[in-house]
Amino acid sequence: MSSRTSSLLLFVLAFFGVFLQLATAAPLETRDVYAPPVLYPHAGTVWYTGQTHNVSWDVSSPPVNITNKVGLIYLRKGVTSTPRKPLLHFSSRMVQVR
Ligand SMILES: *[C@@H]1O[C@H](CO)[C@@H](O)[C@H](O)[C@H]1NC(C)=O
Ligand SMILES: *[C@@H]1O[C@H](CO)[C@@H](O)[C@H](O)[C@H]1NC(C)=O
Repeated sequence: MSSRTSSLLLFVLAFFGVFLQLATAAPLETRDVYAPPVLYPHAGTVWYTGQTHNVSWDVSSPPVNITNKVGLIYLRKGVTSTPRKPLLHFSSRMVQVR
């Protein structure tokens, strides 16, 4: 197994570990999965290596009960995903990504 494959496997296992913890800890009440609309980048945005960008999202109308108040930003190319920032609270609206 290449180191890239094992890194990906580790990521998948870590993801499911966190998911299972959240699933068993969540009380059974109505909650919404919140996906705030991303303002930047948008379709057609091109990023070049070494540039810094401000990823931003619209938090003007969040649901009352949000299941996922924190999230991650991933840089994706094909099937490869790289987390760019650790857990962000949805209300932060913007984060610089390099
Ligand atoms: C990103 O946001 C910061 C802080 O508001 C600002 O100083 C910077 O100029 C912004 N960068 C870009 C590329 O828009
Ligand atoms: C939000 O959660 C509270 C407490 O669990 C509940 O009483 C309320 O009905 C929920 N509101 C919505 C819009 O789901």
